[in-house]
Amino acid sequence: MSRLNPILAGSAQSTEAYRQAIAQSSEAVAQWLQQPEMYQGKTVAELRERITLDFNPQGLGNQAAIERAVEYFLKDSLAVHHPQCVAHLHCPSLVVSQAAEVLINATNQSMDSWDQSPSATIIEIKLIEWLRTQVGYQPGDAGVFTSGGTQSNLMGLMLARDAFFARQGHSVQQDGLVGNLKKIRVLCSEHAHFSVQKNMALLGLGYQSVTLVKTDRFSRMDLTDLQEKLAQAEANGEQILAIVATAGTTDAGAIDPLRAIAELAAERQIWVHVDAAWGGALLLSEKYRDYLDGLELVDSITLDFHKQFFQTISCGAFLLKEARHYELMRYQAAYLNSEFDEAQGVPNLVSKSLQTTRRFDALKLWMGLEALGQKQYAEIIDHGVTLAQEVAQYVSEQPALELVMQPQLASVLFRYRTQALSDAGDAALALFNQKIGDVLLESGRANVGVTEADGVTCLKLTLLNPTVTLEDIKVLLALVEKTAGQIAV
Ligand SMILES: Cc1ncc(COP(=O)(O)O)c(C=O)c1O
Repeated sequence: MSRLNPILAGSAQSTEAYRQAIAQSSEAVAQWLQQPEMYQGKTVAELRERITLDFNPQGLGNQAAIERAVEYFLKDSLAVHHPQCVAHLHCPSLVVSQAAEVLINATNQSMDSWDQSPSATIIEIKLIEWLRTQVGYQPGDAGVFTSGGTQSNLMGLMLARDAFFARQGHSVQQDGLVGNLKKIRVLCSEHAHFSVQKNMALLGLGYQSVTLVKTDRFSRMDLTDLQEKLAQAEANGEQILAIVATAGTTDAGAIDPLRAIAELAAERQIWVHVDAAWGGALLLSEKYRDYLDGLELVDSITLDFHKQFFQTISCGAFLLKEARHYELMRYQAAYLNSEFDEAQGVPNLVSKSLQTTRRFDALKLWMGLEALGQKQYAEIIDHGVTLAQEVAQYVSEQPALELVMQPQLASVLFRYRTQALSDAGDAALALFNQKIGDVLLESGRANVGVTEADGVTCLKLTLLNPTVTLEDIKVLLALVEKTAGQIAV
């Protein structure tokens, strides 16, 4: 058997191998999409046993390698597009995002320097400029695409930290952290994403630097408590490095009062970072854009396109209000962003990113906007928010279901609760709802989230999928009730 050249290149042989491999893979995907099940239901132990790494020293060739990936990976993958797959902020992807991936992967551009990604660099810069106008920032290009919300939050907190030290005459970049670090605080709500804690640990200030602000009954940051925490900090001689507000908490979809937070912070010269990983999708919305009122006032923003923008993983962005703050992370590498190139006006994105080699994920957003147009994009985003309101209404009409919180974005928090379960006590009720989630996933029929809202263990439907209808969710809720009927109290 003659071997085809394994490298993607311009030769006839390589191009043919590429066509075959892509055709075989996309055909396998097309077949997989026809599977009715959400998941084949294999357990952790079954998958561990089934998947073995016994590499053939001679290599199997592309065709057999793809066949094995179909057998061992694709068939036991979770069908994220399935109407009953609603556990997480994990979206089904746009078809055009798949096409974009083909182009991104085949061209393998790297976004660190213009000479590795000429047109891609310009497209990314223009998209950042466009995103800034959507937010209401001044024109400019301060911002960059990231691997997602965690990295964007890290950038916001890192620049906030370094701007804070710079105001006191220290360069963290040059000299590292100095001073009484135990007195430095970041404030965020109790429902902010855990990446705030993880990032503060990474930034050398530890979990102890994070002060949690109480939330109201809709999981939104409580302004009175924020003011109290600010006053307490001042009285204790603590210094506030940043306030992180959330636009779309992971479970409830709560949006903190952005304008009021920004105004409070401005009086005290405190950096505000908004984690809009989820709620940022409302930038495109026609109906719900005003939920993000005040976003334009803050210092930095996280956006995530692999959530309710329906892009494949990974695709996120970081926006920085004032470009001058990028100086805080500046590093000049002769081979990427030399002074000579910069003097000639050659753009480079390595100066704006924590990453060096970086994927051209921006293409997915560009092609999504081109293919759908803003109106259709808005419609598929609004769909989930409106559907959540309808589902909440339906849940509250079911005797055995209890709505735990009114929806704000596209999630519904509820629990199964009968009189007998209530009599059995809170712990039994919590365990029962946990079991409903587990049994559903094991059956392969549905993936419903299990989480906690203010200490109450509940089930979560994350209704991102724009093809899902109220009828689909009624079927899912009937399945929840049927499953509950099979679990012993
Ligand atoms: C509010 C919020 N911020 C940040 C993140 C982290 O984003 P990523 O998973 O893209 O790193 C998430 C993830 O769900 C999130 O819900």
